[in-house]
Amino acid sequence: MTEACTFVIFGATGDLARNKLLPALYHLHAAGRLNRDTRILASGRRHQDREAWLAETRSDLASSVRGGLSEEVFSRFADRTDYIRGDLNDAQFYELLHQKLSEKQAYPTDIAFYMALSPADYAGVIEKLDQVGLLEETKGWRRVVIEKPFGKDLQSAGQLQSQLARHLHEEQIFRIDHYLGKETVRNILVFRFGNALMEPLWNRNTIDHIQIIHAEPQGIGKRGATYENSGALRDMVQSHLLQLLTFVAMESPISMAADALHAEKLKVLKSIRPIPADRVNECAVRGQYAAGTVQGQSVVDYRCEQNVAADSRTETFAALKLHIDNWRWAGVPFLLRTGKRMAEKQALVAICFKKPPQQFFRASHVHCEASNWLLIGIQPHECMRLEMTVKAPGEALDTRQTSLDASFRRADETVNDAYEDLLLDIINGDRSLFLSYEEVQQAWRIVDPVLQAWEKPENDLHLYPAGSWGPAAADALFEEPCRFWRNTL
Ligand code: BG6
Repeated sequence: MTEACTFVIFGATGDLARNKLLPALYHLHAAGRLNRDTRILASGRRHQDREAWLAETRSDLASSVRGGLSEEVFSRFADRTDYIRGDLNDAQFYELLHQKLSEKQAYPTDIAFYMALSPADYAGVIEKLDQVGLLEETKGWRRVVIEKPFGKDLQSAGQLQSQLARHLHEEQIFRIDHYLGKETVRNILVFRFGNALMEPLWNRNTIDHIQIIHAEPQGIGKRGATYENSGALRDMVQSHLLQLLTFVAMESPISMAADALHAEKLKVLKSIRPIPADRVNECAVRGQYAAGTVQGQSVVDYRCEQNVAADSRTETFAALKLHIDNWRWAGVPFLLRTGKRMAEKQALVAICFKKPPQQFFRASHVHCEASNWLLIGIQPHECMRLEMTVKAPGEALDTRQTSLDASFRRADETVNDAYEDLLLDIINGDRSLFLSYEEVQQAWRIVDPVLQAWEKPENDLHLYPAGSWGPAAADALFEEPCRFWRNTL
């Protein structure tokens, strides 16, 4: 059981709060994982009062929570929530907030502030919280949760960090990346460091290349205005995919404590070879979806989406080839790829092993003889699958592929949403699955040259039909023949 605290959500009427945070809090509450006295204070501008906000929250939860909404559970959940309406730019709002949080016995004195806001608002809100004394830790702890993107490039991340550092010390800042809360992602650490079997194979001697892939059939929905200032590289690669890469590539940490994990992840990021400004086209490919059919539905061009410029050059697809210059990974390319409006949802890490030095057998089903692959399915299919070559029954020594499956959960077990465990980590003060500023800095260092090159109109933007696997140009990132993107498990 966690300790009692107050959870303040700024931006409580926005998509993140409605689709992720409130369902996660509801699930934690329903499972008895929140302290009885924990209170949730939601703040937004859209609803006039608590009743209006609760009515919308109830209807959102009814359509999203696992197993359906229980009225009884919801009513007890509602008992621990309150709503405060206010304008984040108005100094008076913070006075009111302070008064409310000081109400005798109503709110536990340990407080987490969740910034479910536009990144442009983070610094201002934190400054104003400090001005009214809400960040002082005299009566309890104060933690601030910051969503990605942390800045929009290396320079702006530095500015944001200096602004935060004026009001908070590092242990108070929780830079969240929800991918690190996924069970399947944390399982990468257990699979690597809980089995002696993998370690001798996990290096340049046996691994040919590694792919880290995120594809989704959804477009940008109502996020046009935000997405236009972001694009796939900032939205997915700088954060989630590079974090996945650190889990796959890091050395064994001395423990699973935050400092130990951060140190090993940072070493990996620091070892990633800089992409020279004049060679971006050899290492990076960008694309934008055009009209097409996704899972049986016709969809429009990215440029016809709401709040998107008719001549937008924002990428909805990004693929990157990176090299890690250290002993373990010298010469092993890491290929990262993400896209919206792709053929299907697929988040996976695909590790391709080197081929045997001699090929004696005839593969019956593929042009190039098959490699061994280790496939780590993150979603929607969680799996840990090792593809092997075996003999196909029959007189000849023909081969076929089969797989060894190491599923990490039993059929009767459910998987929590990533936000559930991460919210508990915030309450428990466990920063191991949150990012250090140095990691964020390194991630920007890696993608900044690409972002800068893509600002220039002469660099290609490849259109791809919605419902495909992205532009064919991304195939050229594989230098050797017989290498291809693993679209499916
Ligand atoms: C978010 C991105 O961080 O992750 C979205 O902003 C993306 O654009 C989402 O769709 C993907 O997360 P998941 O967990 O659905 O793979």
